[in-house]
Amino acid sequence: MKGIVLAGGTGTRLHPATLSINKQLLPVYDKPMIYYPVSVLMLAGIREILIISSPEHLDNYQRLFGTGEQFGLSFSYAIQPRPEGLAQAFLIGREFVGADSVALVLGDNLFFGSGMSEMLRKARARASGATVFAYHVDDPSAYGVVTLGPDGRPLRLVEKPVTPESPWAVTGLYFYDNQVLDIAAAVTPSARGELEITSVNEAYLERGQLHVERMSRGYAWLDTGTHDSLLEAAEFVVACLEEIAYLQGFIGKEQLIARGKLFAKTAYGQNLLKLAQEDQTGRLVR
Ligand code: DAU
Repeated sequence: MKGIVLAGGTGTRLHPATLSINKQLLPVYDKPMIYYPVSVLMLAGIREILIISSPEHLDNYQRLFGTGEQFGLSFSYAIQPRPEGLAQAFLIGREFVGADSVALVLGDNLFFGSGMSEMLRKARARASGATVFAYHVDDPSAYGVVTLGPDGRPLRLVEKPVTPESPWAVTGLYFYDNQVLDIAAAVTPSARGELEITSVNEAYLERGQLHVERMSRGYAWLDTGTHDSLLEAAEFVVACLEEIAYLQGFIGKEQLIARGKLFAKTAYGQNLLKLAQEDQTGRLVR
């Protein structure tokens, strides 16, 4: 399975912080925001990742991640000339995806929860169709909203409904089989002029192939759309990519130590060095 992180857009709601860099590069406490969605793909076991961003910002991501080998990953990069909708990721990423299945994550979506790896692995293991994740919110009209039947199956999807009939927002993390390439290519622009991801999900729903996983209260899905929500997100300190790479077996101890030394002046780097000294049960080994 391939992974795509969509990290473009204009970030106007975070001006002036986003006048010269884009939103997904802003720090969330000690690391760039995009580390969080990348960590989600890694936890799903995905190692080939395409970063899509705007023409003026893509080189920042290339400087940040390079080839990805420091995390045992392989990164590719592509430009989205204009923010014309989330579904465009599959037109831009068509060649990258090839004949594989693909997970899309929005560069500004932050997820936390202890059962995360398990939930992601389950979505990944599903051989066909699409899996989306629903989160109970107070203000559903800001999101794509899914109405669920008594058995938990999806009945309807609406993008930003004025009067929502359900409290379940569809989060910015989507798992698709290879059909998504043709489905996205057939999507036409919505009233707001965008190729909506909700249209893609509706196509799967019509085919009876949309799975909705409800994220329980035990999970946090954080918005980073405003200065206040960004500050709130900064209070969650997780998503250490080197740690995930090490624990997933993508990199070895030597690479972990090399990264720790690179950031040795920070708590981030010191934690990596500490991790390298622990055995699997978290005990220090000498
Ligand atoms: O966050 C989840 C929500 O994301 C879903 O519930 C909605 O169904 C989905 O449409 C989307 O809602 P928004 O309209 O709030 O998305 P927004 O336009 O804010 O874009 C989300 C991120 O993706 C944002 O960081 C900018 C980036 N983006 C957006 C577009 C439209 C791109 O990189 N390229 C784009 O073309």
